[in-house]
Amino acid sequence: MKGSLVALASVGSIYSTIVIGSIVTALEAGLACGTDWPTCNEQVIPSDLLVSAEVFFEYVHRVVAALSGLLVLATLIVSLRNDAYSGPRRWAILTFIALMIQILLGREVVARMLNPYLVAAHLSLAVTVLLLATITAYSMYKADKLVQPQKTH
Ligand code: HEM
Repeated sequence: MKGSLVALASVGSIYSTIVIGSIVTALEAGLACGTDWPTCNEQVIPSDLLVSAEVFFEYVHRVVAALSGLLVLATLIVSLRNDAYSGPRRWAILTFIALMIQILLGREVVARMLNPYLVAAHLSLAVTVLLLATITAYSMYKADKLVQPQKTH
């Protein structure tokens, strides 16, 4: 499997999480799932998911964040299993660590009822995670090109 494609999918997923997170803030929907996590109002799938826009966006933000976590983990595993990615590997490790902290920070944001300092840290780390994932994807793309040099005429 081409690591750069998985890494690119991570970048897309993290970007989507950020866009949806900003919608959550704009709708003042940060506590629409209550203060529990990973459940939403003590339900795995909230009963009013399709009734309340606030619940919908807060819930989708959490689901897409989880998907980002899985994609970043997959990128890390591909980088650890393939020697061609020994260079990008350090970026894949850093991205994974930063994303895990970000998910735990998201949990703290709701547990502490949108403490403004935690929300500010959540936004700052989101940008950092996106930057790290982009560097990972670019360095994996460059490594792919070295393994499969372009045909010359
Ligand atoms: C990939 C992981 C995540 C990323 C990149 C991310 C990113 C963001 C961003 C950019 C915002 C908008 C912040 C602002 O406008 O100031 C936001 C808001 C928010 N995020 Fe996340 N987030 C992630 C995971 C989570 C998780 C797991 C939770 C858990 C509940 C969470 C809870 C929240 C809440 C409650 C808000 C709204 C804060 C408010 O109303 O001011 N996030 N997120």
